Amino acid sequence: MKIQAVKGTRDFYPPQMAVRNFIVDGWKAASKRCGFVQYDGPIFEYLQMYQVKSGDEIVEQLFNFEDRGGRRLAIRPEITPTLARMVNQQISSLPRPIKWFSVPRLCRAERPQKGRLREFFQWNIDVIGVEDVLADAEVIYCCLDYLRSLRLTSADITARISSRRLLAAVLMNIGIAEERLASIYPILDKKPKIPAEAFEEMLNKEIDSAATVQTIIRLMNVHAVEEIGRIVELNDAARQAMQEVSRLFALLTLMGVGEYCRFDMGIVRGLAYYTGIVFEVHDAVGELRAICGGGRYDNLLSDFGGPHMTATGMGMGDCVLEILLREKGLLKDDTLPIQRLDYFVAYADAGLFDRAVQVTAALREKGFSCDFSYKPAALGKQLKQADALGAAKCIIAGQELTAEGKLVVRDMSSGTQESIPAAQLLK
Ligand code: HAM
Repeated sequence: MKIQAVKGTRDFYPPQMAVRNFIVDGWKAASKRCGFVQYDGPIFEYLQMYQVKSGDEIVEQLFNFEDRGGRRLAIRPEITPTLARMVNQQISSLPRPIKWFSVPRLCRAERPQKGRLREFFQWNIDVIGVEDVLADAEVIYCCLDYLRSLRLTSADITARISSRRLLAAVLMNIGIAEERLASIYPILDKKPKIPAEAFEEMLNKEIDSAATVQTIIRLMNVHAVEEIGRIVELNDAARQAMQEVSRLFALLTLMGVGEYCRFDMGIVRGLAYYTGIVFEVHDAVGELRAICGGGRYDNLLSDFGGPHMTATGMGMGDCVLEILLREKGLLKDDTLPIQRLDYFVAYADAGLFDRAVQVTAALREKGFSCDFSYKPAALGKQLKQADALGAAKCIIAGQELTAEGKLVVRDMSSGTQESIPAAQLLK
C-alpha cells in the first residue's frame, strides 16, 4: 500500500523548506524591527474557544476531535483566540502596550485551491491595550514594511482599509438593527468572491427592503471616505468613525507607506470579532485571494472572561505570498541556499580519512558548520560535493602538507588557495 500525503498539506523537502525559512525569517525580522516580541500557544485548544466569537466560516472549517477523556478539542485554525486567552491569564502582570508576534502552523478544513490549503503558516502581529488608531497604523505599517522589504512596490500590492465602526454606523442609520449586523457582515465579506447577482440575492434574503439592499451595494463600491456622505446621511457616530479613518491615513502617510494604502468600504472581513478598523492587503491586479487581513477587535478578551481590553492585529499566510513573489520574479528557488557550510574537509587519499574526521570535529567544536565526504572519492568529486553543500571554504588534507602540520584552504568562490598550519586554523 502506497500511503500519500493528505490533500491540502505540503511536504517540505529541503528546497521548499528553504522557501519557508526565507518567508518566516523575514516575518520575524520585520516583527523585531517594529518592536514586537514572540509568543506561541498549543496547536489544539477546546473546540468551544473557536465557537465563541470567530464566526460560522471558521467553525465550519475546524478540524475537531474528541480525546480519550471525552473532551471536545480542535486544531487551531487561527491564533487570535489563543492570544486573547493567554493575555487574559496574565493581564495584570504584562507590561503595556502588549506588542506580540507569532508564526503558528494552522489548519483549516478548506477546499484546497490557489493560495488556500488545509495546513499553512501564518504570521501574526497584535497590539493589545492601545485605543488610539496609532496601534492600527503600527500593524499596517509593519505588514507593509515587510512586504516592501521583499521589493513589492505600490504597483504590486494595495492595503485596502475600512472601518467596521463606520460601516455599523452607516448601516444602522439606514435602518439595519444592531443585532442584525453580525449576520450581514459575512455576506458583505463574500462580495468579491461571488458573482454580483448571487451577492444581491444573499442580501435580499437577509434584508426586506430592496432600496436598502441597493444602498448597501453602492456603499460597498465606495473608494473615498467623502463619497459616503453622498449616498447616506451621516450621524455623529459615522462622522467620528470617519475622523478615525482619516487620522489612520495621515499616520500611514507620515510613516512613508501612504502610497500603498487605499480606502475601500468593501473590506468587511469574515471573522465575527472585528469592531473597528479592518484591512486586507491584496495584489494590485486583484487576481489572488488576500495576502493578509486584520483589524481591531475590542471585545474578544472580555468575551473570553477577561477585562474590557482593546486590541488590533493581523494575520498573513505563506501561500498567497509565495505565489505572488514567484509571479513577480522576486522569489527563485536557485537563489535560496538550501545549506551553507563554513567548511568542507576534503582528503586526497583514503589514508587521510582519520585526519579529515579530526579536523572536521575540531572545526565543529569551534562553532563552524563543517562537513566531509563519508567515502574517499577523487578530489575533484569532493570539491563538487563541497560546492553543492554551499561551502564557503574547502580544506584539503594532503599527505605532504599534513606531514608539516599544514592544511590547504581553498576559497570556493574565488578558487584561491593558501596553506595554513593546522594549529593556526583551529585557533
Ligand atoms: P484570516 O483572514 O482568517 O484572519 O486569515 C489571515 C490570512 O491567513 C489570510 O489573508 C491568508 O493569507 C491566510 N490564510 C487564511 N486561511 C488560509 C488557508 N486556508 N490557506 C492559506 N492561507 C490562509 C485571521 O486568521 C485573523 N486571526 C488575523 C488576525 C490577527 N486578526 C487580528 N489579529
